[in-house]
Amino acid sequence: MNPVTIAVPKGRILKPLAALLARAGIPADVLLADDRALIRVAGPELRFLLLKPDDVPTYVEYGAADLGVCGRDVLDEREAQLYRPIDLGIGVCRMVVAGPVGKDEPRDLPRVATKYPRTAAAHFARKGVQAEIVYCGGSVELAPITGLADLIVDLVETGSTLVKNGLAEREIVSRVSSVLVANRASYKLRRAEIAPLVERLRQVVDASGRTDGGTA
Ligand code: PRP
Repeated sequence: MNPVTIAVPKGRILKPLAALLARAGIPADVLLADDRALIRVAGPELRFLLLKPDDVPTYVEYGAADLGVCGRDVLDEREAQLYRPIDLGIGVCRMVVAGPVGKDEPRDLPRVATKYPRTAAAHFARKGVQAEIVYCGGSVELAPITGLADLIVDLVETGSTLVKNGLAEREIVSRVSSVLVANRASYKLRRAEIAPLVERLRQVVDASGRTDGGTA
């Protein structure tokens, strides 16, 4: 039998995720090893794939991973057909519109730089504001400082990146946290292996009072 495969995002979420998994009795030390290996084997029955956050839904949707951990920011931007059994209550941050400190918002057709074009377009459409959306792959905060854009739509956690770059939050687009996602077929066909993992995680998250109950 193949090991259960969990796709996890590289980056700042790994440490709190490993701690959460450990509390649920899921061996996750391998996630913290200083190593370039992209497959981390946690035993004969479990392995992790280390991915760019944006790729987690793809690996889970197509069944290359049974489970995954990804932010609501990524899920909102994509249309992956995935179960979302648990909000893990980690990676808590917010998607915001931000602009240069002390500069008024342009009235007509603001140009908005973002890594999240669908999310940004939907936000401005909801407000009835016509906006030109420009895709940037990272370091989006540079766009308003250099004249590439008037505004940005991006994630804020501590707010220090905005402050360091002379930007301020204008409005909140959505609240973001990390959720467990599951491949639809795996969730049914590998239920005997997956359900106990999900249940243990749910108990740990419930115990810390941070679950939203999930949607599956
Ligand atoms: C994210 C986000 C902001 C920053 C916000 O970028 O895009 O740039 O974190 O965090 P803060 O509010 O705590 O300062 P990330 O570091 O993930 O890298 P990226 O710019 O390459 O997306």
